[in-house]
Amino acid sequence: MNALAGKHIVLGLSGGVACYKSAELARLLVKAGATVQVVMTEAAERFITPVTMQALTGRPVYGSQWDAREPNNMPHINLSREADAILIAPCSADFVARLVQGRADELLSLLCLARPIARVPLLLAPAMNREMWAHPATQRNLAQVAQDGATVLGVGNGDQACGETGDGRMLEAEEIMEELAAFFAPKRLAGQHVLITAGPTFEAIDPVRGITNLSSGKMGFAIARAAREAGAEVTLVAGPVHLPTPRGVRRIDVRSAQNMLETVAGQAQEATIFIATAAVADWRPANAADQKIKKDSSGQVPQLSFVENPDILATIAQSERARAGQLYCVGFAAESENLLAHASAKRVRKGVPLLVGNIGPATFGQDDNALLLIDENGSHELPRASKAELGRQLVTEIARRLNTSS
Ligand code: CTP
Repeated sequence: MNALAGKHIVLGLSGGVACYKSAELARLLVKAGATVQVVMTEAAERFITPVTMQALTGRPVYGSQWDAREPNNMPHINLSREADAILIAPCSADFVARLVQGRADELLSLLCLARPIARVPLLLAPAMNREMWAHPATQRNLAQVAQDGATVLGVGNGDQACGETGDGRMLEAEEIMEELAAFFAPKRLAGQHVLITAGPTFEAIDPVRGITNLSSGKMGFAIARAAREAGAEVTLVAGPVHLPTPRGVRRIDVRSAQNMLETVAGQAQEATIFIATAAVADWRPANAADQKIKKDSSGQVPQLSFVENPDILATIAQSERARAGQLYCVGFAAESENLLAHASAKRVRKGVPLLVGNIGPATFGQDDNALLLIDENGSHELPRASKAELGRQLVTEIARRLNTSS
């Protein structure tokens, strides 16, 4: 289950153009299984209507501390007591200043002040013009609200509604969802440094051609996201894929198997867990041409010969740190048949404590998958689910194995 399922989120909107993104955010929260109670300031209602937010969340929006719909006429108490978290998105410069002062003259500030501070976290997604963001008053206020217990999410960089370019845009709805999921997820991998390979490799034939495979990188990216949610420091070494980098994850792009090995070997010095999901090309052309190979009139086709690529997983699994128990190695096996037998043999051959089998043709490029976990005690199936969900389950399984072995 994702960390947001069943959570009750008070989504507060203060005034700003970024209010248009909050509609999408509300939709994503509901889709993730959260209930969403929207509270809007008067300024927010100038940018987006409560009708939109009510329709998306299925709940009437609150905007006034004098709301007579509440039998006790205390929406600030009732709304803040039932929340698992209060998320202000967008959080304007003015609203940050109000929080700093502990103002209570309109509902949203009032309920932030009235929230049980030890139990109900307050998260802020700031949104403002770059000069307002950079102003010492704003930065001072942000430092103060953080010291007072709020979690200040970052801001985006880019074109702003005012025509200027710089820091201060509100994070995209998807990015706020990632931050929120990470906030709620149990920190099962706190203190761990996870190194992950993902995607295909590309082996050049000449400067414009090469051989590769159909791996999309989605499983490795999902594991990277889940490991970061679980509190790990994550380095993702990615072959050529078209996927956005999960928030908070350090990504290093590589192309060939040899590039991937060099990068991984360096990064593995710092890692405590290595997860090899990449579909590394087994062979590469023996001699890549420096210039584009041209057709000639003879009708002759070029003859390619191949050499074997290094086995990245086996190399790392044999390293000193892995053998000393300082680096826990997890392999993947992409098979097309006899999953249990092939994957069990591969686990032994690669010398890893945990191997994760999946049926390659059924998973490449898909958003879901089914996994078979094989370790020295036998096998265990993680039934078909989204790769995001399987990533979280795999992280839990790895954390459990690490905790029982330490
Ligand atoms: N792997 C690797 N380097 C390679 C080949 C594979 O690191 N040169 C890793 C993969 O990332 C995966 C595991 O080894 O974690 C198994 O990959 P797979 O392609 O299933 O197996 P192969 O070793 O290529 O064996 P075979 O082709 O015989 O199935």
